[in-house]
Amino acid sequence: MKMRALKALAFDAFGTLFDVHSVEEACEAVFPGHGAELGRRWRQKQLEYTWLRSLMGRYASFEQVTDEALRYAAASLGLELSSESRARLLQAYRALQPFPEVSEVLHQLAATYTLVVLSNGTAVQLHTLLRRSGLDGYMTRVLSADEVGIFKPHPRVYALAEEALQLPRGEIGFVSANGWDVAGAAAYGYWTFRVNRQQMPEELLGFPAAAVGTSLTELVRVLQT
Ligand code: 2OP
Repeated sequence: MKMRALKALAFDAFGTLFDVHSVEEACEAVFPGHGAELGRRWRQKQLEYTWLRSLMGRYASFEQVTDEALRYAAASLGLELSSESRARLLQAYRALQPFPEVSEVLHQLAATYTLVVLSNGTAVQLHTLLRRSGLDGYMTRVLSADEVGIFKPHPRVYALAEEALQLPRGEIGFVSANGWDVAGAAAYGYWTFRVNRQQMPEELLGFPAAAVGTSLTELVRVLQT
């Protein structure tokens, strides 16, 4: 499809706009020598719990899932998580920094496209992160899976962008660092860009990204082509 047909872009939040790496640093500060592994297990379990709860029909907010995933990840490494450490690590999720190019890229894209966030995070989490990093002015809407009580990659969540933007899905682009998220959005019918910062292999789910780059700067280049 032709890029110029796009009118709006929807962005995933965690790992796409906001760098979750700082969570590993917080983990390392609390549990020296275990930060990287705890951070990795925490993120993996957080995603698993979103998928499991969606399959079970037992939605809980991303905040709750994040907390429960942290407790599981710590226990899986035999680490004792005091209530203080737990609060400190959860705080790290509320203070994530955007990737360095994000502000400039959103500034450029906002001149041409309507921009929204479409995330599994709660509206409170997302508004807090956007406000802290001065990105809230670029986003016309913050769309959360919380509104529909199920997580991405369920089609119901991707539908939020189509409904909020009042545009046909072929005119909406979806941007994510997560291969599974790109697959879900592409299956729904959005044009997709994967920010493959870690240069991971493509997910074999039958719905590859329309375009891939290693940073959001490359999204601008792709859209201009
Ligand atoms: C999101 O922001 C979890 O990265 C995922 O929806």
